[in-house]
Amino acid sequence: MPHSEAPDHPELADVGRLARRLVDRAVQTARTEDQPLRRLLVDHLGPDAATLPTVSATWPSYEHVNVQVGLEAWLEAGLECTYEVFGITGIGMMRHMEIVGVGDFLQPPNQGPFGSASFGGVMTVAVPSGPSGQTYPCVSHGIYLVDDAGARLAIVLQPVSRGPNPEVVLQITGAEQDRIQAILGEIQTLAHERSVFRGQVISFGPEVFGPGRQVPMNFLDRPSVARDQIVLPDAVLDNIERQVLGVGRHSGRLLASGQHLKRGVLLHGAPGTGKTHTVGYLLGQLPEATVIVISGRALGRIREACSVARSLQPAIVVVEDVDLIAEQREARPGEHPLLFQLLNEMDGLNSGADVTFLLTTNRADLLEPALAARPGRVDLAAELPLPDADARRQLIRLYQGNLVLDLTHPETVIERTDGVTAAFLKELLRKAALLSCESDPADPADAPDAPIRVTDTHLAAALDQLLDTRNQLTRILLGGEPPRPKPEPPHPKPDHPHPKADHPDPKADHARPKKPPKKPAPAP
Ligand SMILES: Nc1ncnc2c1ncn2[C@@H]1O[C@H](COP(=O)(O)OP(=O)(O)O)[C@@H](O)[C@H]1O
Ligand SMILES: [Mg+2]
Repeated sequence: MPHSEAPDHPELADVGRLARRLVDRAVQTARTEDQPLRRLLVDHLGPDAATLPTVSATWPSYEHVNVQVGLEAWLEAGLECTYEVFGITGIGMMRHMEIVGVGDFLQPPNQGPFGSASFGGVMTVAVPSGPSGQTYPCVSHGIYLVDDAGARLAIVLQPVSRGPNPEVVLQITGAEQDRIQAILGEIQTLAHERSVFRGQVISFGPEVFGPGRQVPMNFLDRPSVARDQIVLPDAVLDNIERQVLGVGRHSGRLLASGQHLKRGVLLHGAPGTGKTHTVGYLLGQLPEATVIVISGRALGRIREACSVARSLQPAIVVVEDVDLIAEQREARPGEHPLLFQLLNEMDGLNSGADVTFLLTTNRADLLEPALAARPGRVDLAAELPLPDADARRQLIRLYQGNLVLDLTHPETVIERTDGVTAAFLKELLRKAALLSCESDPADPADAPDAPIRVTDTHLAAALDQLLDTRNQLTRILLGGEPPRPKPEPPHPKPDHPHPKADHPDPKADHARPKKPPKKPAPAP
């Protein structure tokens, strides 16, 4: 029905029409009152808010903190930029279902799924942002009303779950398409430049499924292991250092002469030979590098780890116990999708990428076929050997700490520990120290700093316990390969005046003679 001009002398029908129009307007106003968010946006952006262009960008959800930091950096950078931020409320389940754009809030009443949207105080989540429990408050489901030197903008920041992986979306609405596009680019750049991950050691936790779940991510303290705390043959450690540290140190010259920087190093050897320890040392030598550690159930997040590494070079991706993914066969038998994914990622980096892959495994045999089939990903496979006699002497000195080693037959323990790992020797010294404490009649509370005196007897007893066949699991856990077959090991004479009080007689506790080991320790 066409609208007619208001007549000078209204007829009865016109009065009715006028009344209806007044009622319509009142209802419209009431509905706008019902939609406070719509009103807020229209007040800020103007009456044509619904037709303004919007630009948006999406990040994986673990980048939320960096998007927040980037957005705030942009807001603070503009000299004539003022803003207010509100929380979007009243959208219930819709908050994870699909992107809420400003336009959705501007739909006429009762249209679209966000008709009920309202606003309230800003809602934040404390997201990890640094080691020692540091967090940064991140706005979730927030709307920023910005006045950037006269240009009115609305910026919506919200977590969403569209596909299998949670994401965070940032949308900017404003009058000028070019300007909002440029602003989005600036925020993306700032989010990258100020990434809280840069130069940190981050571990990716396992995937958590379900809508709205934050992807767990932890910041770790960078390990500090000194070079002299590592007991390995010089050639082995030199090689590892050259590959990992040397390439980084000379990256400029290597690149300039056409050499690639990315590198893959596989540390393999029995459990307890120092693979993780060596990784810790290398990380400490590269304080600028961003490190992403994945292991265990988080191995499925290799793609994300590599994506962070690519964007924050120089970077190191540490994949601990990489054999776990080699064993994880999926759908098709005989395939190792996760391992191949890792190898693809290693291969996919461009040659100038300063990214190091440090892989560790106890089971190089499981990886060998896959690595051999796809050469070039791992350019150094370093075996960390079991310590030889000399190394065992060094390890005992290293882990002796402030213990007083009062040994009449120091070589006995070196002989008896042929075939054990460094971790085993470390535990051996602690156990001997504990046995010494137990046998000391003095009250430990009286002199907590009193030096602990370890004798041949303590060491022998500790070794008996650790090597005892009934402690096989402990021994395996400490990486203690059974000693090579030997004549009955020379048992040092107790040098303590009261051996009985010194420790429970090992013979009483472990009456059985030690069984000869089933197989000799593998040659290093
Ligand atoms: N080669 C080594 N030199 C010095 N200490 C070592 C060595 N190997 C292991 N250790 C000690 O044993 C502990 C456990 O070793 P770890 O590096 O975790 O073994 P892996 O990762 O090879 O199983 C280390 O924290 C370190 O204290
Ligand atoms: Mg380890």
